[in-house]
Amino acid sequence: MNNALIQKVKKQFIEQFITEPLLIFSPGRLNLIGEHTDYNNGFVFPAAIDKGIVLAIAKSDNNYSTVRSIDMDEEFILNLKNIDRVDRNTWKNYIIGVIAELLKKGSQVDNFNCVFAGDIPLGSGLSSSAALENSLAFGCNELFNLGLSKTDLIQISQKAEHNYVGVNCGIMDQYASMFGKKDHALFLDCKILKSELVPVHLHDYEIVLVNSNVKHALAESGYNDRYAVCQKIIEHLKKPSLREVSLEELNSLKTKLEASDYKKGLYVLQENDRVVACKNALKNNDIEGVGRLLFQSHIGQSEMYKISCKELDFLVDEAKKSVSVIGARMMGGGFGGCTINLVLKTDIEDFKLKISKSYKRKFNKDCSIYNVMLGDGTSVVK
Ligand code: GLA
Repeated sequence: MNNALIQKVKKQFIEQFITEPLLIFSPGRLNLIGEHTDYNNGFVFPAAIDKGIVLAIAKSDNNYSTVRSIDMDEEFILNLKNIDRVDRNTWKNYIIGVIAELLKKGSQVDNFNCVFAGDIPLGSGLSSSAALENSLAFGCNELFNLGLSKTDLIQISQKAEHNYVGVNCGIMDQYASMFGKKDHALFLDCKILKSELVPVHLHDYEIVLVNSNVKHALAESGYNDRYAVCQKIIEHLKKPSLREVSLEELNSLKTKLEASDYKKGLYVLQENDRVVACKNALKNNDIEGVGRLLFQSHIGQSEMYKISCKELDFLVDEAKKSVSVIGARMMGGGFGGCTINLVLKTDIEDFKLKISKSYKRKFNKDCSIYNVMLGDGTSVVK
């Protein structure tokens, strides 16, 4: 947890509202493997990271609520009696969405003041949005004693994103951010919403994230289109989700589907298998096996599911050329954001230098590189 960030948020809250707030930290996430499988009721393998959102919140005596983003340097007033989404692609809809969904559920949320800031770069595929949603849902639950479980809270966060932000996201980001555990990844079965905590020991290797700095807003990207393709396939087969679809069943549709849609369905089936294989490889200390699956996963994401972009493909190709990297792929919703790389510890500085230089040479812009630790999920800051 970033102590300076906590102090900054606390100080600014006290200066503005002259009262001690409740402080919540909610992390972003990385994902080892399993992309676009969550909304297909499949498997994912994410982990919470040590970067995220710090949110300060306290009850308000006014008949309105005030919400301030330090990073955006913006503030808005929320009237709990008349909540509607703001018609723009703005962080305010995450806040509005969470409060609206809590109220819809019948939770007794009263007026509050809140101030927040983060240390995850926005639009980098590290789930700053899920961290924000969870921090507010969790904060309200504590502040107003709503008695909701962590599972209730992540479902509220997810609905906020569906109904107020306009992204038909799965549950991976909210789940990982809420339930993460230090030094562990969560092998999550999205069909039953149950996870297994798997210790992440990478031995001679370390995770390095490379941000292409191509920003993506999922609401405007092809994310919802991919969701729609998967829906179309299961409607044809009259199945509840792609999780219940076998390869034979998918193949039976080959002549009825456009070739590109068939490939997308096939990607989802194969990616699910890779998540299971990756969990087993990690448990067996087969780190090179983990790496190979990451490379394979990227090929599926780029060539079959078509959620990569030229910058991400370049970063993965460069990583592949290096003997110090045993696996790399694009991470998250796609169309921009970060790649995840497994790099030999002793060669990390060299890797960073080389990939930064070649990226700059190719695209005439900088990439950013982060070393992240796997951290705990959403909690009150003591
Ligand atoms: C985004 C969504 C998640 C998941 C990933 C892709 O992060 O919020 O639900 O679908 O994309 O794996």
